[in-house]
Amino acid sequence: MSGAGLRIAVDGRVATVTINRPDVLNALNTELLEELLATLTDLGADPGVGVVVLTGEGDRSFIAGADIKEMAGKTPLEARAYSELGQEIAHKLETMRKPTIAAVNGYALGGGCEMALACDVRLASENAEFGQPEINLGIIPGWGASQRLARATNIGYAKELILTGRRVDAAEALERGLVQHVHPADELMPATWKMAAEMASKSPVALYYAKEATNRSLHGDIGGNLVHEADLYSLMFSTDDAREGLSAFVEKRQASFVGK
Ligand code: COA
Repeated sequence: MSGAGLRIAVDGRVATVTINRPDVLNALNTELLEELLATLTDLGADPGVGVVVLTGEGDRSFIAGADIKEMAGKTPLEARAYSELGQEIAHKLETMRKPTIAAVNGYALGGGCEMALACDVRLASENAEFGQPEINLGIIPGWGASQRLARATNIGYAKELILTGRRVDAAEALERGLVQHVHPADELMPATWKMAAEMASKSPVALYYAKEATNRSLHGDIGGNLVHEADLYSLMFSTDDAREGLSAFVEKRQASFVGK
C-alpha cells in the first residue's frame, strides 16, 4: 500500500507507517494529517494487523512538526480545526485497539514530539532530538504536549521544554523517561520490529484490554480505575484466548491466540 506522503508496509501482523515528506523533514500538513487519520482508522479495524509502528522517511527526521508554512496563513478558526485534527490522530494512536510504537529516527519536534508521545511506546535512534519549539514561533503546542509531556515525564520538565523550546538529545530523552530505549541508527528499525512482533504474538483482545486499563493509570480516580481493571480482567475469562493461554502454560506448550 502507498499514498502521497505516507508509506504503509505490513510484515506479518506488524504494520509500519512511514511519514514520507523528507524534503521538509517530514513536517505534517493537512493533506498528510488526513491521510494519516484515515490510515490509522483502517489499520485499527484490520484484524490482520496486530501492532502499528510509526516512523519517518530518511535518516534525519521522524516528524519535524506541523507544517509551519501552512500554519502561517491560518485564521483562528482554521487553526482550531488544525489543532483538533492533530489531537484526533494523537488520540487514535493512544486509544486504538492495538499497540502503537514510535520509532523516532531523528527530529521529533513540535507535532512530531506530540505524535511520539501519543504512541504506547517510544524507541529512538542515537541521533534523535525531541522538543516543543512552538514558543519560538510565538505560539503554543496544539496536538497534546501540554498534557502528555508532563504525564510521560514530570510537570517541571514539561514546562521547561515547552517554555524554553529547548531541543534535547536521545540520551537526555532516555534519562528523562521520554523514550524507553535508544539504539544506534541502523539498529532502530530491527529493534522496533522485534518488539512489535513480540507484542503481535500475544492475544489481540488481551493487548487491547491491557492497553485500555493502563491508559487510565494517569487519569481519574484510582479506586474507580481498579474496579475497571477488575471488570476487564474478569471479562478476559470469557475469551477463547484466555482459555488457550492458561491451558497452554499448564500443558507446557506454545499458546496460539485467535483474538476472541
Ligand atoms: N514545517 C515546514 N517546513 C519545515 C519544517 C516544518 N515544521 N521543518 C523543516 N522544514 C523545512 C525547512 O523549511 C526546509 O525547507 P526549504 O529547503 O524549502 O527551506 C527543509 O525543511 C529543511 O530544513 P532546514 O531548516 O533547512 O534544516 P536544518 O537542518 O537547518 O534544521 C530543523 C532542521 C528541524 C532544526 C529546522 O528545520 C527547524 O527548526 N524546523 C522547525 C521545527 C519546528 O519548529 N517544529 C514545530 C512546528 S509547530
